[in-house]
Amino acid sequence: MRTVKVPLGDRSYSIKIGGGLLPRLGNECRRLKLGSRCAVVTDRTVGPLYARTALASLRQAGFAPMEIRVPAGETTKSLRTIHTCYDQLARHRIERSSFITALGGGVVGDMGGFLAASYLRGIDFVQVPTTLLAQVDSSVGGKVGVNLKAGKNLVGAFYQPRLVLCDLDSLKTLPKRELRAGLAEVIKYGIIDDATLFRRLERTLPELLQLDAVGLAHIVARSCQIKAKIVEQDEREDGLRAILNYGHTIGHALETISRYGKYLHGEAISIGQVAASRISRDVLGLGQAEVDRIEALFARAGLRTTVRLATPQMAKLFAAMKLDKKVSRGKVKFVLAKKIGQVEFGIDVPRATIKTALK
Ligand code: NAD
Ligand code: GLY
Repeated sequence: MRTVKVPLGDRSYSIKIGGGLLPRLGNECRRLKLGSRCAVVTDRTVGPLYARTALASLRQAGFAPMEIRVPAGETTKSLRTIHTCYDQLARHRIERSSFITALGGGVVGDMGGFLAASYLRGIDFVQVPTTLLAQVDSSVGGKVGVNLKAGKNLVGAFYQPRLVLCDLDSLKTLPKRELRAGLAEVIKYGIIDDATLFRRLERTLPELLQLDAVGLAHIVARSCQIKAKIVEQDEREDGLRAILNYGHTIGHALETISRYGKYLHGEAISIGQVAASRISRDVLGLGQAEVDRIEALFARAGLRTTVRLATPQMAKLFAAMKLDKKVSRGKVKFVLAKKIGQVEFGIDVPRATIKTALK
């Protein structure tokens, strides 16, 4: 098992990464001296696969868990779901000393985390991410929240978990499309911070797609290390943390205009990252060879790199980008790459440059 620390003073926690970890959930929670009652929030796909093991492990360690199952998919990340979960927590007398375990992908983690942040003004929570995307990104760093019709993640909080438990075995049941979408975030870490990771991905992509255990353990741990380093320096995104949003301005807008139905998050940010690399070439002088390497890696991972938008859709995309949380004084700010492994943030980009990059 590998452990990555997220050092945030009295809100510090560990990310534990390895195979066969889910049956150890209860013991890990006991070590943290969490309260005896807990709610395991999961979705209707993950629940039938893993809730039994999670609940049994918690019971064996002396906890009294109840389960909340929500529908799978992005539309579950809503205030409506939160409301129904509040009612269930109240019915089962979840108290201030109780805790929530989010067992699932980023949807369950973001929604379950916001539930924990807001119920009784905040109770402990544990992340058990079961998708690659959630293991390398969404379960780490404390951003929790839900979507509004107007845009993604517009309601939320910064609320750190007490523990993140990444059982790599759970990736064995993950549909390949979801695995590829998770790789989009791993590639992002290479672009924003680590040229060596990027080269490793270029070299080992076929093995990773076949779930090579050693390779997966490495990329999950390395991604978490990079994210932890950034979050440690800028937990509430006053500056540096923005670099984690490389490719997300366009990606989130694509998700919004397609009403979260057409693209998985990782697919949308794959298109967004390739567009951002072209914008980086035009604005920061990123070399064409590096733009080509970026596009080729996403393509080899089986991810889309381009989108065709008719004029009205393009207008909608720009409108959605203006609702991005990173907009400042009405200006959309971009994260752009100087080279693979190094980015700059807070950059104004002319509309025409964005349009060209999307063509
Ligand atoms: P997801 O949670 O919707 O999971 C994808 C699908 O896979 C779901 O249908 C789920 O039921 C299923 N699934 C999950 N684990 C499985 C497993 N082990 N086996 C079989 N099926 C499984 O999607 P996601 O890609 O994990 O997360 C996307 C969400 O994460 C988005 O809402 C995005 O905004 C959010 N996100 C948040 C952050 C953050 O910092 N909080 C960062 C990145 C993304
Ligand atoms: N995924 C972006 C962040 O955590 O800041």
